[in-house]
Amino acid sequence: MESRVVRPFPAPQSRQDEAHAASSLGLTRRMRRNRKAEWSRRLVREAALTTDDLIWPIFLMDTPEARSPVEWMPGVDRLNIDEAVRQAAEAAALGIPAIAPFPYVDKALRDPTGSEALNTNNLMCRAVRAIKAAVPQIGIICDAALDPYTSHGHDGVMDGERVLNDASVAILVQQAQALADAGADVIAPSDMMDGRVGAIRAALDGDGHEDVQIMAYAAKYASAFYGPFRDAIGTNATLVGDKRTYQMDPANSDEAIAEVMLDLEEGADMVMIKPGLPYLDIVARVKDHFRVPTFAYQVSGEYAMIMAAANNGWLDGDKAMLESLLAFKRAGADGVLTYFAPRVAKKLKAG
Ligand code: PBG
Repeated sequence: MESRVVRPFPAPQSRQDEAHAASSLGLTRRMRRNRKAEWSRRLVREAALTTDDLIWPIFLMDTPEARSPVEWMPGVDRLNIDEAVRQAAEAAALGIPAIAPFPYVDKALRDPTGSEALNTNNLMCRAVRAIKAAVPQIGIICDAALDPYTSHGHDGVMDGERVLNDASVAILVQQAQALADAGADVIAPSDMMDGRVGAIRAALDGDGHEDVQIMAYAAKYASAFYGPFRDAIGTNATLVGDKRTYQMDPANSDEAIAEVMLDLEEGADMVMIKPGLPYLDIVARVKDHFRVPTFAYQVSGEYAMIMAAANNGWLDGDKAMLESLLAFKRAGADGVLTYFAPRVAKKLKAG
């Protein structure tokens, strides 16, 4: 038979020989059988990534220019409010359920207590109002944390070298109230202060915002992978020290369970693990343990690694992007915050 001649290994001489070869291995279950064709691989596929799984983090800037590139995140730009509205409309048209805006705050507006965070007419509040008015169908998830607003780059207020917990919570609560008043659909506390979820929940309820959800950055690690984000919002140069007294130690896993448990007890509707791929074990463990809506944040450093390798021709960027995001679904995540969101959505749409 012609076809046998081109096989890379010596072909069996007859069907009988082939049967003999099989039985000599003694295999009753051949895992490769289900992988033999695309239709079969599709049929037995366990996890799927869809546009419904995507949350798109975007960067805002108060400038006349529509866009300015984030140097450490190729393909990502900071957007002014008009452009953010256009992008939100495009995201909605692509079927992306939600966006997560982050502000680059003018350095002159930053101070030790992050007071600009409480200005109800700050960049975030204006952007949220504009996006809500123009694109009411897209969800808006707003960070509660002070780092874009503080002169020292920490997520809370300080006494000397110490980041204060309860004093920071008091301010974060007011920040959350301002964002909810502006129209935020979800408040996402990313500050890792103790007790902030409960305090924010109580304040939102007191304001009649009982429908505003809380997505807690429940297990957020003190990670090197946030580097490019700090470039994007301009905190890299300003950050004094590191965040290890409030963000989690990368060595810990049981502690993540305790963090998630507390945030759920305090009223979190959804929990998040961050960073993403290096902490996939935490995503799987949290989902298995609590069975609640669980999200992962594919952070700026993860995005930058894929983009840098792809731009060097060392990785197929599209394939690495899709594989990395599918991994979150396989681990049990209900959705992923990813800077790839519009690119993935377009790719999924094209089929
Ligand atoms: C701020 C915040 C950070 C990120 C999201 N919210 C940075 C930090 O904690 O220093 C990181 C996101 C990313 O790296 O993509 N509280």
